Amino acid sequence: MEPINVDNFEAAARERLDPGVYAYFAGGAGDEQTLRANSAAFGRWELRPRVLVDVGEVSTGATILGSEIALPLLVAPTAFQRLAHPDGELAMARAAAAAGTIMCLSTVSSVSPAELAEAAPGAKQWFQLYWSQDRGFTADLLAAVAEARFSALVLTVNLPVAGRRERDVRAAFTLPDDLPLPNLPVELARRDFHAALGRIVDATLTWRDLEWLRSTCELPLVVKGVLTAEDALLAAEHGAAAVVVSNHGGRQLDGVPAALDVLPEVGDAVGERVEVLVDGGIRRGIDVLKALALGARAALTGRAALWGLATAGEEGVTQVLGLLRDEIELGLKLLGCRRPDEVTRSHVRRAGSLV
Ligand SMILES: Cc1cc2nc3c(=O)[nH]c(=O)nc-3n(C[C@H](O)[C@H](O)[C@H](O)COP(=O)(O)O)c2cc1C
Repeated sequence: MEPINVDNFEAAARERLDPGVYAYFAGGAGDEQTLRANSAAFGRWELRPRVLVDVGEVSTGATILGSEIALPLLVAPTAFQRLAHPDGELAMARAAAAAGTIMCLSTVSSVSPAELAEAAPGAKQWFQLYWSQDRGFTADLLAAVAEARFSALVLTVNLPVAGRRERDVRAAFTLPDDLPLPNLPVELARRDFHAALGRIVDATLTWRDLEWLRSTCELPLVVKGVLTAEDALLAAEHGAAAVVVSNHGGRQLDGVPAALDVLPEVGDAVGERVEVLVDGGIRRGIDVLKALALGARAALTGRAALWGLATAGEEGVTQVLGLLRDEIELGLKLLGCRRPDEVTRSHVRRAGSLV
């Protein structure tokens, strides 16, 4: 059966992938409370469609940090994409560019910033930084990112150490010896990469260190992994252009809320000071619409894109992004909105609540 939605792609990916790799992609930290909460949260919000709005012409386009993208959905940074498909990040980049959206390259990727830029010339790409203790190495990496003309730097702030993901432990998952990891300051221990991840991030970083980052790299700064109004405000004060409300797809601190449920708190606190993005649990176009209604300018997806990549490489990601784009367009029309920025708080309500 041809996959026709994201869940079908996950099922197809699961059949193709080595069980250990599937466990690594699908799993979350601890009891996976937060992993489940991310997707369950979408079910607790209902849409409030308006009727007799002219939806003859609808655009799914959005503007993020001044860049026009074709749909309000970006590709989140995910590590080790070559475990999903031999073409890995290069296939992901080509598919994201063809869909008219931005891909965010993880520090923990199989390709350098220059190699990724070459795969999709002219495409807008962001780079996600794990900031190592070796500042000279980080400075060189940032120079390579600027040289490759990436358009934003995404600093992930919710991983001073890696969360404990028990599915990986159960599956005794290890990295293959021949997986290239060119953006790391140290050779990653393949057998215990969870512990090794801790060595590629400086756990002593504080907000004050952002000054060094901003003086070393002129790209707009996106702070990824905030879950409170307080931290979103600190990000704004320290010069961030955007924040991503994110719990890392439930892979870091288990027991934190669904990203969607934190959005209103963050949006209300920061207002127009920074752009607000969100990720976690997106499986449907209507999930994206609910995120927009609750204050996000756009969402990101991690696993949905990985399921496409694992199923059919570049073509699989193209299909996943295409079906999500179509679902967003259909949803906009049925919701009575002509563009993503017409979706407002009045288009949702808590399930079962009186308005
Ligand atoms: C397999 C996997 C690897 C990830 N690797 C990274 C990473 O290297 N850097 C990062 O900032 N976030 C990473 N994330 C988190 C994603 O960027 C994103 O926050 C999360 O996947 C969103 O949830 P979703 O998968 O439900 O869409 C990873 C997530 C997954 C599932």
